Formats: sequence, C-alpha cells, structure tokens
Amino acid sequence: MTVIVPEPVLQVNKLDNENVNEEQRDLELDGGFIIPGSNAFGHSFRDYEKESERKASVEEFYRNNHIYQTFEFAKKKKEEYGKLQKAEMSIWECCELLNEFVDESDPDLDEPQIEHLLQTAEAIRKDYPDQEWLHLTALIHDLGKVMLHPSFGAEPQWCVVGDTFPLGCAFNESIVHHQHFNENPDSQNPKFRTKLGIYAENCGLDKVTMSWGHDEYMYLVAKGNNTTLPPAALFVIRFHSFYALHRSGAYTYLMNDEDEEMLKWLHVFNKYDLYSKSKVRINQEEVKPYYLSLIAKYFPAKLRW
Ligand SMILES: [Fe+2]
Ligand SMILES: [Fe+2]
Repeated sequence: MTVIVPEPVLQVNKLDNENVNEEQRDLELDGGFIIPGSNAFGHSFRDYEKESERKASVEEFYRNNHIYQTFEFAKKKKEEYGKLQKAEMSIWECCELLNEFVDESDPDLDEPQIEHLLQTAEAIRKDYPDQEWLHLTALIHDLGKVMLHPSFGAEPQWCVVGDTFPLGCAFNESIVHHQHFNENPDSQNPKFRTKLGIYAENCGLDKVTMSWGHDEYMYLVAKGNNTTLPPAALFVIRFHSFYALHRSGAYTYLMNDEDEEMLKWLHVFNKYDLYSKSKVRINQEEVKPYYLSLIAKYFPAKLRW
C-alpha cells in the first residue's frame, strides 16, 4: 500500500519556540490547538536552566548521556535491538507497558507516558484530521522507551531518552549540556573530531549513526515489522529527539534532498510533541477504538520488538 503524504502547511513564524518562551503566553497552532505559555511546572518549555526539582536530575541525566554515548556503544546497541528478539506484543499493549515510566530527561513532563502519547496524537488529530498516518506516528513515537522495562533490558535512562545527536563527527555546541562531551572518549578520537568526521557531505541522515535511544529503536521496530506507514512517519520517529537539527539547524550538511522534504513534517510534529504536554487528561477509553483501527491498518500483525 502506498500512502500519499502531501506537503505540510506550515505557519512556522508565529510558532517560533523562542518567542513562545519569551512572551509566556498561549499561542494557537495551525488548526486551533492552543500552545500553553508554560509547562506543567509553570516554566517555559525545554528550559534547562530554570531552578526546579527536576533541574538537577535532568543535568545529571545529560552528564551520563554525553559521557557514555560513543560511536561504538551506539553501534552495538543498534545490532542488539535490531534483531527484534526482545518481545512480541501489539502497539497498544506496549503503550500500556510504558505507562509506569516517567522520562527523567524531560523538564516539562511528569505524567505517565501514555498521557503524553495520546495528548500529542489528539492535538495533531484536531489540527490535521486527514493525516491519519501522523496520528499513529504520534501515538507510537515514544514507544522505544520500553527499553526501560525489565523484559526489554532495563536500560538506564541515559541510553533511552533525551536529545539525540550524531556520533562519528564533532559534537555541535547547540546540544544541550554540551560541556559534558569533554569526558566522552570520542572527543579525543581524531577520526571523529572534525565537522564531517567519518561522513561525506550531504550523505543523508540514513547513513549517520545517532546516539542510541528510543527514537532509533522504535524506527527499527516499525521498519523491521514492515509497517506501511510512509517514509515521513519513519523519519519523524527516528529523528524526533534530534533537537540540534530540527530546533537549532545544526548538522544540515549531513542531510540530502529527501531529508529536507521530510524535515518539514518533523517541524510540524515537534510542536505537538513539545507543547501538548499538559495536565489536561485524555479520556483513553473514548479514543482507544480510533487508534486501534489505525494500528490494525498500519501494523496488521503482532509486532516483534
Ligand atoms: Fe521521544
Ligand atoms: Fe514525545
């Protein structure tokens, strides 16, 4: 089945992240979804400096993440998880399993994960009612976080969540808590220290080894289970935590033309991933039948994880 994905209609200017933080007011997304001026703790979104009970643990999280995410480490994890031998379960079962975890890297969220998945998906559904593939993408984009679960390896948070970044080339300064890369062995490796490192200019993001986390895992799961979701969906899932690229515009020299096209959808998706986090609860039982129908369409069989 081929899913035709039209160009997204963008209204990027009025949604500029910096403006939202600065002005601390509610904004309206493309189709009417209101961006709250502050997160559930009353702070700007993705504000890593604001004093809060989460700040110290978020910084400690990134210290570990930046020290231990090396090229070799990410390659090994990709091989291990890419075999899809951890479990067999449906998408919805996985959503429920994930529910026990809180993401330590996220300064905006202390709700169970399923709330975030449904809030993101429902906000997109409201504004883009015809893009059902994007609704399902939103529902599953964070499911790779099941790596935290004992039956999936009980991985530490630093190798599951948080912003991702390319390995095998220099760490860009726009990456949050960049200073901790000094302790990453790859920083001392002459092969990896240059702007391009082991990559050719415009090689395409598909060729790039990213730091290991839930983005890449869910991408491998979706692809390995032969989903009929369009390439833009897989791109959104795979790079949604790559903030250095989609927020700061770093590493664009690694992108090819196809990446440029799909990045437009990632910009659309990110607004909802980021700003739909709120204390507004979704009635799970009410929306469940809709998402089960999408799952049945795009993932007809039980998934191998
Ligand atoms: Fe995520
Ligand atoms: Fe998310």
